[in-house]
Amino acid sequence: MQFKTIIEPFRIKSVEPISLSTEEQRIQYLKEAHYNPFLLKSEQVIIDFLTDSGTSAMSSNQWAAMMNGDESYAGARSWERFQKAVFSLTSMPHILPTHQGRAAERILYSHLGGKGRYFISNTHFDTTRANIEYSGAEAIDIPCEEAHDYTSNFPFKGNMDVEKLEKLILEKGPDNVSAVILTVTNNSGGGQPVNMENAKDVAKICKKYGVLYVLDCCRVAENAYFIKHNEKEYADKTYKEIAQEMFAMCDAAVMSAKKDALVNMGGFLAMRNKHLADECTQLLIITEGFATYGGLSGRDMEAIAVGLDEVFDADYLHYRIRSTQYLGENIRKKGVPIIYPVGGHAVYIDAKALYPHIPVDQYPGQALVCELYRIGGIRAVEIGSLMFGKYDENGKLIPAPMELVRLAIPRRVYTQSHVDYVIEVFDEIIRTKDKARGLNVTLEPQFLRHFTAHLEML
Ligand code: F0G
Repeated sequence: MQFKTIIEPFRIKSVEPISLSTEEQRIQYLKEAHYNPFLLKSEQVIIDFLTDSGTSAMSSNQWAAMMNGDESYAGARSWERFQKAVFSLTSMPHILPTHQGRAAERILYSHLGGKGRYFISNTHFDTTRANIEYSGAEAIDIPCEEAHDYTSNFPFKGNMDVEKLEKLILEKGPDNVSAVILTVTNNSGGGQPVNMENAKDVAKICKKYGVLYVLDCCRVAENAYFIKHNEKEYADKTYKEIAQEMFAMCDAAVMSAKKDALVNMGGFLAMRNKHLADECTQLLIITEGFATYGGLSGRDMEAIAVGLDEVFDADYLHYRIRSTQYLGENIRKKGVPIIYPVGGHAVYIDAKALYPHIPVDQYPGQALVCELYRIGGIRAVEIGSLMFGKYDENGKLIPAPMELVRLAIPRRVYTQSHVDYVIEVFDEIIRTKDKARGLNVTLEPQFLRHFTAHLEML
């Protein structure tokens, strides 16, 4: 008998209280936070969907492993365990532990980057792009055509446009392209998965032109779930085998362990080429730490080693992906426009379609973020013109291509009743949608303004 209710495949051993608040209190908190939920205290939040990064609940096995952390400066036991776990997945012999994903990015991309160099990706994540651009190089996104249609059933909207890839490499000159970066799943492209066929096509082109092929693998286990269930040839492979096959094609990998390694902090850079690894190790030692701990404690490396194993558990991945889909599909049924199909770690709402009466220069995404908090104490993030908008020389906003709101779901943290509560909050969002108001930015820093900007309600 197959039951339709998918239960969390874990029991809860330790709990953390959530402080509940009234709408009246939240209106005040939001005002004090200048209508920017990044400036809220976590205690003022009921359901925190700001990010799935570093917010996982660790297992009892991970906590137990942490007690065995070997904190020796060099050659620690914990380093050996970490190295073995990363090697078994990536088959890459050179592994550099870093304190999080962007530290691995900074090391690799500052070494490979510089003026006149190009990087090509399905979509660069913001820290990836920032590290590349900071080096003076240019980052070019080439998502597949299907990615632009939010409503079709195409299951792999995270794919890279391989025709464009080959054209771009030829146009820029293969020697000027520092790397091709495949991000799985494609976070900035709606958390959509990439299929193996696409990963193989990218590998072929990189090989043909001698361009370095990098996997941004922070959600590689979630991506493997979609491959197994939607790409015929992979139905009988395990999730780990699928991930291993994806790594086997690449020359290097960067990972933010804060996602699919189920830990609160950590990352790595893995490579096949010894010369590249030697250069990167120099940078690691200068800024992160010695080669056998990088930016991590021994106990962190223990937790990552266990997490990288747990994340491929079939029951866990089924629960993880199905619970994200449960949220997305249920709010979609109520008429909330979302990027469809639902991706692995988050549900992305098209705020421009939900609030057509709010012009883009009044930030419909931020309006929804504020409404979610006011009505339900839910914290989400705008991925639209507040995050990516720029100004022209007359100070007029050049809007971002999309006005999205991301509900990112922490791993193993919330139960189905939490998710049901969120779904219920959307009834009120829909009922009152015509009354939602736009916002105006009153204070902003020059870079990454969405983190600290102040806004006012219009
Ligand atoms: N690459 C991708 C695809 C990411 O999603 C992130 C982080 C990074 C790299 C950088 O890793 O944070 O460990 O330095 N994404 C987080 C998010 C911040 O909320 O999506 P990091």
